[in-house]
Order: sequence, then structure tokens, then C-alpha cells
Amino acid sequence: MYKCALILAAGKGTRMKSKLPKVAHKVCGKEMVNHVVDNLRKAGIEDVNVVVGNEAKIVKEITKERNVYYSLQEEQLGTGHAVLCAKEFLENKDGVVAIFTGDAPLITNETVESLIEYHINGKYDATILTSIIDTPFGYGRIVRNSEGKVEKIVEHKDCTDEELSVKEINSGMYCFDIAILMDKLHKIKNNNSQGEYYLPDVIEIIKNENGSIGAVDVSFDEIIGVNSRVQLAEAEMKMRERINKEHMDNGVTIIDPNGTYINADVIIGEDVIIYPGNVIEGKTIIEQDIVLYPNNRIYQSVIESGVTIQSSVILESRIGENTTVGPFAYIRPESNIGKNARIGDFVEIKKSSIGNGTKVSHLTYIGDAEVGEDCNFGCGTVVVNYDGKKKHKTIIGDNVFVGCNTNLVAPVEVEENSYIAAGSTITKKVPKESLAVARARQVVKEGWVKQKGLLK
Ligand code: UD1
Ligand code: CA
Repeated sequence: MYKCALILAAGKGTRMKSKLPKVAHKVCGKEMVNHVVDNLRKAGIEDVNVVVGNEAKIVKEITKERNVYYSLQEEQLGTGHAVLCAKEFLENKDGVVAIFTGDAPLITNETVESLIEYHINGKYDATILTSIIDTPFGYGRIVRNSEGKVEKIVEHKDCTDEELSVKEINSGMYCFDIAILMDKLHKIKNNNSQGEYYLPDVIEIIKNENGSIGAVDVSFDEIIGVNSRVQLAEAEMKMRERINKEHMDNGVTIIDPNGTYINADVIIGEDVIIYPGNVIEGKTIIEQDIVLYPNNRIYQSVIESGVTIQSSVILESRIGENTTVGPFAYIRPESNIGKNARIGDFVEIKKSSIGNGTKVSHLTYIGDAEVGEDCNFGCGTVVVNYDGKKKHKTIIGDNVFVGCNTNLVAPVEVEENSYIAAGSTITKKVPKESLAVARARQVVKEGWVKQKGLLK
């Protein structure tokens, strides 16, 4: 059977007190609406339509790589009206539509699948995803008749005292037969406390016209909606727990899951050990047998097997096998560090490649450089890549020994197997297998202290 989905994301999210539309706020590094889209895709739903309205441009921008359809709800007249705005997307389709909200990012693909399966197998006209909770405050309540069949959904603000005591709530997620939904939707009225066209009202309409209503209940953890920053932090915590647990189940040691922040799209291999204070972001790949000692931020990078990293920042870069990084290294975008290399303390690497086996152990800046294999950088080397107007490139061959406190003034080349004496400022090419000394010669004046009458 044909399946598609709608995501309602036109609301402003006033309680977030933000310039960003609510659904653009991130949970574990990914926009809430994109969590929903990605899970729908995982559940095998290709055709996804997002109803946009407030800050539609931003919502379209953040979802643009995900190949979704859009419909515009110019005025936010309620969730029922939002679905009506997707008429063009839905009409002439024969099958089912699952409806979600862009502010409930914790829904899993398994639940999406079981909602749709339940709906199809039970031949329902509409199926509601519900949850039973102790404090149903704020949610729409599921009202059932004496036989336990769903009668209607009543919004919190419209509930009688008796309805308020109902603990089964509407998740705001549903599955409908498309033709029946489109036929009944325009019958919704806005004569309620908020003056809105409520999508949940279509349930009672379908039921009263001899339709059948299904309901599946799911853990509240999957459906919590984010309306405020406090709830955003709660969603973040739940998502973090889920992500960390999945990695642990896959063979990753996380010493303190409460203090480890791994984004939704990070991939981690077996036997990786993660100490507290690691923040791993973007589509980072952490291969196997890696130790992440405390306090690293790793963004959009590839960390190959056998690497250890401590108290460092790595952005949009690759770290080759068995290399060690840190403590206190800063590896900036587009850097490519080879295998068995060492990037030590207080070293900054910017847009450079460092060959296999090369050691940059301490207090060094390397920018816009191509460095060969098995080189050794003495303490305090600076690649002078900027002349005040332009950035220039430095090229260093294999097996080069750079003495301590050297400046390499770019553009400059140091050929393979050469040595640079400590304290040199290199401005000209160093040919292969040579020694370059570029500093003032030492002068010694014997007896000078006594002559000056300074001897104590
Ligand atoms: C909604 C349900 C409620 C349910 C709850 C679950 C209605 C009337 N109520 O309430 O039964 O318990 O979700 O979280 O549906 N939106 C639009 N256009 C609009 C209005 C809303 O696109 O005109 C979008 C919002 O951006 C949001 C979603 O629909 O993503 C839900 O709207 P919201 O106002 O948060 O509904 P709730 O009051 O939470
Ligand atoms: Ca909501």
C-alpha cells in the first residue's frame, strides 16, 4: 500500500522565545524537524511533505538536503487547517498518510512502522498514537466510550473536569486513509476555546460517520513535544541517553554517559573508550580501538583506528591510524594527519597535511602546509603563512628535521632529508640533504664582565 507522511511545522513556537522557528532548534546536534524526517525515511517512507509557515524560509533551508515536499500554511489557524494546506500533496493519492509534528523529535522509526502496520492490518480509517501518563497536563485527552472504543479527542483547554482526569493522551501523531481524511477534514469547525481548526476533531467526525478508529499506545518518551527551552533540554537528555545506549550496545565503552555528548549521526566502532567530557558532533566517524581521553570536541571528522586524543579540538579533519593527539591540540578544518604521527601539546594545525610518522610534539603552529613523512618538528616552530594580505603555502619533504624555534616564512620549500638549525628564520628554499642555518652567528667577548666592572 502507498504510504506518505506529513510533518506539521508551521507554528512559531512562541514559548521558545527565539528568533528561530521552533522546529529548527537542535536536539543532539540535529534540527528537530530533521530528526522526524530521518526517522520517517528509516521507516521506509519516501514521500514526506512538510507544512511550513512561520519562518518558512529557514525551515526549507535546514531541510533542503532531505528531498522533502513543502506546503505553505500562511496563517496558523490550527493543526486541522495545516493538514488542509497540504491538499495538493495529498489529493489523488490512494493509500495512507502518517502525520507527525516537527516539535516531537524522539519518535523512532520502529514506532512509525508499527503505527502504520497497526492501521493497515486493522483496516482502520484513522489510527491515533497515544500514551498513558500520570500528568497529562496540556495534552489532548483520548475519550473512550463504555466499550473502550475511541469517541473523540478533547484538547486540554476544552476538557470537562471528568475529561481532565483521563490519563491517555494524544501524541499528535496519526495514520489516516488519505481519501477519508480529505473527505472529512473540511467539516472541522473552530468553535473551541482557542478558535482553531483542530486536527484531532476529525477523529470524532470520522467515528460519527461510521468510520473505525484505532489507537496504539507508546512510551511517553517517544512522543514528548518541545514547547519551551526546558522541554528542549529534556528532549536532549532523552535523546542523548538513547544514542549513548546504542553505542554501548555496539561495543563502545562510555565511562560516564551523563557527561558524554554524541550527536545523532556519529558512527563509532568497537572497542572505543570514551572518557567524560567528550563532545562528538556532525557526521563524525570514529573507527575502532580508539581512546578519547577527557575533554575533546570533535566535529565532522574521521578518526582512524588506534588513535588516542586528549583535551583537544578537531574540526573537519582526518586523523590517521595510531596517531596521538593532544593534550591541548587544535586541529582546524581541512587538515589531514597521517598514520603513526604525533600532534602534541599546544600545537595548532590549520588546513595542512602532515605525513605518516611525522612528529609535531609541542608549541608549534603549522598553517597552509604540506608536510612529508617522518619529519620532526622541534618545540616552538612557526609556519609564517600570512604576510598581512595573503596566505602562502609551505612545502616540506620527507625526513626533514626542523630545529626548535624555527620560523618558516611562506611561500617556502624545504626538500627531503634536510636539517634546519634551531632558531632559524627560513625564507629561501632548503635543498635536499642540506643543513640550513639562518640566524646571527654567536659572538663571545671573553672577560667582558670584569672589564665593565660588573663582576660581583
Ligand atoms: C497538539 C494536539 C494535542 C496533542 C499535542 C501533542 C491539536 C489541536 N492538539 O497540541 O491533542 O496532545 O499536540 O504534542 O492538534 N502547527 C501548524 N500549524 C498550525 C498549528 C500548529 O503547523 O496552525 C504545528 C506546530 O508547528 C507544531 C504542531 O503543529 O509542530 C503542533 O502544534 P502545537 O500548537 O504545538 O499543538 P499542541 O498544543 O502541542
Ligand atoms: Ca506541541
